[in-house]
Amino acid sequence: MLHDGTWTSSGGSFKLADVLAFDFLHEAEERLKSGQTFRYLEIGGGWAGFRTEPSAKSVNVAGLAKHLEQHLGRRAFLHITNLTPWHTELPEGVTEHPFVTAAGLSALETQGVRRGTFDIIYSQAAAYFEPDLGSFLAAASSLLREGGVLIFNFRPEDSGTISGCARASGLILRKSINAGGMNGVVIAFEKPLQVHRAIEAESAAAVIDLSRDWREEYRQQAS
Ligand SMILES: C[S@@+](CC[C@H](N)C(=O)[O-])C[C@H]1O[C@@H](n2cnc3c(N)ncnc32)[C@H](O)[C@@H]1O
Repeated sequence: MLHDGTWTSSGGSFKLADVLAFDFLHEAEERLKSGQTFRYLEIGGGWAGFRTEPSAKSVNVAGLAKHLEQHLGRRAFLHITNLTPWHTELPEGVTEHPFVTAAGLSALETQGVRRGTFDIIYSQAAAYFEPDLGSFLAAASSLLREGGVLIFNFRPEDSGTISGCARASGLILRKSINAGGMNGVVIAFEKPLQVHRAIEAESAAAVIDLSRDWREEYRQQAS
């Protein structure tokens, strides 16, 4: 499923999302179908699939852009951060933010991006290299809308830091899988709706390597 050796790719893909059974295309379609906007942010996206001619079936930002073509720049907005500029030309509605690290994500708020607006924040093998995980999680949480999800992978030895910083940033664990080898732990956090915050406080003892369906648990507890 994921390669088990050293990182070799900067092409960009939604492999980590696949591993946790998140379908970004479906999420985007559902948001747009219900008359809302869709906003996606990829941290350290590299080429994000734009190096070659994408098709609407490509499972990367370029494929998403192709698929959402008619909404791009109107109701669908895709953002990529990179440490340096990678892209000279991108479709309208797709924005690269160069010189932004995972920890420095709040810089986007000075670049016309409003906090509390992203449906999905994704980082495949990029936030993985971030030494300041607390700043990364706080900034990502600030940029997510309520109900939005953050998916990334990290080294297993960072589990304790990730767990504590996520909780401090108001994020709750949705799913995690230890993918093994260099891929480390793949995790999905959710920024809960206000109404669920009290329930979440009771469940503060979330353990990262347990895979639980939190949304379903919330539904049951709230009903
Ligand atoms: C193995 S590549 C992965 C690229 C792409 N996400 C993919 O899945 O193909 C690692 C990327 O992480 C980026 N990176 C390294 N340290 C970072 C940090 N602290 N914050 C954000 N990106 C970082 C590098 O610039 C590089 O583009």
